Amino acid sequence: MRVLVPIDGSEYSMKALEKGKEIAEKYNGEIILTNIQKRIVSRPKPMSMDYDIGKFIEDDPNILHERGQQVLEKGLEKLKGSSVKVAICLLIGDPAEEILECAKRNEADMIVIGSLGLTGISKFLMGSVSSKVVNNAHIPVMVVKKND
Ligand SMILES: Nc1ncnc2c1ncn2[C@@H]1O[C@H](COP(=O)(O)OP(=O)(O)OP(=O)(O)O)[C@@H](O)[C@H]1O
Ligand SMILES: [Mg+2]
Repeated sequence: MRVLVPIDGSEYSMKALEKGKEIAEKYNGEIILTNIQKRIVSRPKPMSMDYDIGKFIEDDPNILHERGQQVLEKGLEKLKGSSVKVAICLLIGDPAEEILECAKRNEADMIVIGSLGLTGISKFLMGSVSSKVVNNAHIPVMVVKKND
């Protein structure tokens, strides 16, 4: 049983990781711990005089890599002492698309994801990433709420 757990560092995603770990342990499986860093563009204030669409600057891949690494470390910390095998996957791009791509590439059997994430507005049932993953996944998705 290969369980893909996408984490963004939020409490919600850590809760999902706990659940994913339980499942992997039970089925003698492994965890694919995944973080996706969104490509962020910085630009001058839209209203400023020198606004120039050509000045969009992509974030330094090294910074994105470092940020992702920090999130994954936090996840690995939670898996310490467990017998499950862990693979890590750090990607840059659209989170939902990369999660689904990563699941396919690594032949994951299921995805365990948080209902919400870093934005975490609790009046919403699910965030945009978890909604997109549930809607488009080709394998079962378990959505974990923080108070489960
Ligand atoms: N960048 C990411 N990398 C890996 N997993 C992610 C990422 N973003 C979200 N997730 C996963 O999706 C779950 C739900 O997060 P989501 O981003 O959908 O909610 P949100 O942050 O509350 O709302 P939104 O991002 O739509 O403003 C997280 O708990 C985590 O499991
Ligand atoms: Mg989010």
